[in-house]
Formats: sequence, C-alpha cells, structure tokens
Amino acid sequence: MKLALIGFGYWGPNYARVLHDLAGVKLTVVCDRSADRLAQLRARYPAVEAVQDVNDVLGRRDVDAVVVATPASTHGDVVRAALKSGRHVLVEKPMALDAASCDALCDLADSAGRVLMVGYTFLYNAGVRKMKECMAPDAFGQAYYLHATRTNLGPIRQDVSAVWDLAPHDVAIFNYLLDERPQWASAIGTRVLRNDRDDIAFATLGYKNDVVGNIHVSWADPNKVREVVAVGSRRRVVFNDLNDVECVRVFERGVSATDVTADSFGEFKLLVRDGDIISPKIEPSEPLKTQCMAFVDAVTTGRRPLADGRFGGHVIRALAAIEKSMRSCGAAVEV
Ligand SMILES: NC(=O)c1ccc[n+]([C@@H]2O[C@H](COP(=O)([O-])OP(=O)(O)OC[C@H]3O[C@@H](n4cnc5c(N)ncnc54)[C@H](O)[C@@H]3O)[C@@H](O)[C@H]2O)c1
Repeated sequence: MKLALIGFGYWGPNYARVLHDLAGVKLTVVCDRSADRLAQLRARYPAVEAVQDVNDVLGRRDVDAVVVATPASTHGDVVRAALKSGRHVLVEKPMALDAASCDALCDLADSAGRVLMVGYTFLYNAGVRKMKECMAPDAFGQAYYLHATRTNLGPIRQDVSAVWDLAPHDVAIFNYLLDERPQWASAIGTRVLRNDRDDIAFATLGYKNDVVGNIHVSWADPNKVREVVAVGSRRRVVFNDLNDVECVRVFERGVSATDVTADSFGEFKLLVRDGDIISPKIEPSEPLKTQCMAFVDAVTTGRRPLADGRFGGHVIRALAAIEKSMRSCGAAVEV
C-alpha cells in the first residue's frame, strides 16, 4: 500500500516516522506548502518525494491512500479532493468544521467505496482502551459522570479555537467510553489572549440516563494536564496521559443511593463502599502507530475503523453545539 502525507508541520513528522517504518506500507510522497518544511523532510527522508501542491499528490499513480495533517480549517477541502481522486483518507481531527461537510464527506467515501477515518489517537491509546475495560457495567456500576482536563500553554492555533483544537479528543473519548453520543451541550468560553477565538472553555455534555461529561480545555494554563476521569457507582477510573508509570488508576470505592429504607435516613440511605486503589498493567505501545495500523487494516480488509467518518461527524455535531452554547452564555443546545 502506497501512502502520501499532506502536512509536515508539528504533527506531520510523527506520521512520517510511523508510516516510514510501518511494515507493508510505503510512504512515497509528502506534501507541504512550506518550502522550509520540505527541506526538513528531504534532510530526514531523502528517498521520499517532496511536493508543495496537493494536486501534485493526487495526480500521482503511486498513491493509494492519503494522510491529512494540515491545519483544521483546510481539512474539508483537502479530504474532498483526495476522496474525489479515489484515495482512502485518514484525516487528523477535527474532520471538518461543520456537520454538513462531515456528512457530505462520509457520503462521498461511501459512494466511492473508500475508507474515511479520523485521527482520534486516544481511541488507539492502550490507557484509554484499559479505561473502557475498567468501565464494564458489572465492575463500574451505574455511570455517574465523566470529566476531562486538557490544559497547557498553547500551542495556540491561528485558525480554530481551543474548543475545536483540543476538545475533539475529549468528546471522542467520552463517546467511545460510553458508546453513545451526547444529547445536549452547555458551555462557557473566554478569550484571555486577545485573539478572536476562545482560548479557554468549560463545556458540559448531556448523555442518556443523566450521565454528564464535563470538559475543560485551555491553552492559557501553565500546568499541562491530560486527564480523563470516569465516576460510577462502584468505582472511579482515571486516565492520566502524562503518567508513564500508572496511566490508569482504579479507585474501588463508590457511593450509591438506595431505596432501602433505614430509620436513621428516612426515605433512602447512601451506601458507601471502600476498597483498593489499583493501577492495572498496560503493555506499552505507540497510539499513533496503532492508529495507522488500524487505517491500513481498514483499507486492506474493508472493515470499518472505530473512528470512521460517521464517528467523526458525531464529534463535530457536539463541538458545534458547544460553540453555539458559548455564543449564548451557556444556554443548553441540542446536539
Ligand atoms: N492527534 C493528535 O494528538 C494531534 C496533535 C497535534 C496536532 N494534531 C492535528 O494535526 C493537524 C496539524 O497540526 P499541526 O500542529 O501539525 O499544525 P502545523 O500548523 O504545525 O502544521 C501544518 C502544516 O500543514 C501545511 N499546510 C497548510 N495548508 C496546506 C495545504 N493546503 N497543503 C499542503 N500543506 C499545507 C503547513 O505549511 C504546515 O507545515 C491539525 O488538524 C491538528 O489538530 C493532532
């Protein structure tokens, strides 16, 4: 399978490394608008062709599939052109900036029989996979809420807000962990860095059965945090992407309301369970490599990838509702 990479900025070089070394695929060409970036590419991978125009990729015969790692605002156009030229596509998040574009791209991929996958790296992260295992209903109990924090100083994007840059990861993780999509969103955002995009946001998503998912994103916070917490009636499960030793921790403790009547509490009482704190063993793996292998598998077997275009579209619907709610001071918006 011959692959092209479009976008060799900050994130693209990670794809180039993974694809260059991946068994069964050949990275034939890399495209970037910037001559400086292409000079970097040539220095590192002299055997890989370097071009500046997307059309010079799509006009080639030695490209079966394309990986798109350009800025978010360019995704819709680049993906459309790649699908129209008959290529399978793996596009970085967010897939596009509105739901209608996502639907159109999915329809295009379906009618052309091509794979359209979105780069939700965290769905291919062994820690997040373990977290989902730890949330199996018999062990986790009733899901209460999810909370995600994604803060750091930048990198500040020129084309999209912190919500569109950072929150796609968390919405995707929530949807994956719960196997659902949110029904409503309520969010507040602020612009502290004097640009025309929100740098900070606090967003709440409402899922079925009153489960809420809260997301805090910021690129104006000197403390880097990459954490997702899930609380259920029987346990609390924490994924901390910055903790290499214990990236998942399970607190075997919980509190649940019961309708068993007890004299001292009247109508109901709260049952508190106390237990161990466990850090399950997780085999080390590189999420981006696992994700690229899943893309290759989808192209070669025809199996739908976990993060296919439809999944990506549901994430965009949630982001659009978050954005709309931020424009009306947190009013709940249907997703
Ligand atoms: N999955 C992750 O963990 C993760 C991490 C970082 C970035 N990303 C995503 O990767 C994408 C790229 O982010 P980045 O940080 O590398 O951005 P970047 O701005 O550093 O790099 C983008 C590159 O694309 C090039 N480019 C722009 N428009 C182009 C076009 N039309 N044709 C060819 N080249 C073009 C630019 O010259 C630049 O070199 C974004 O969608 C971002 O959200 C994902």
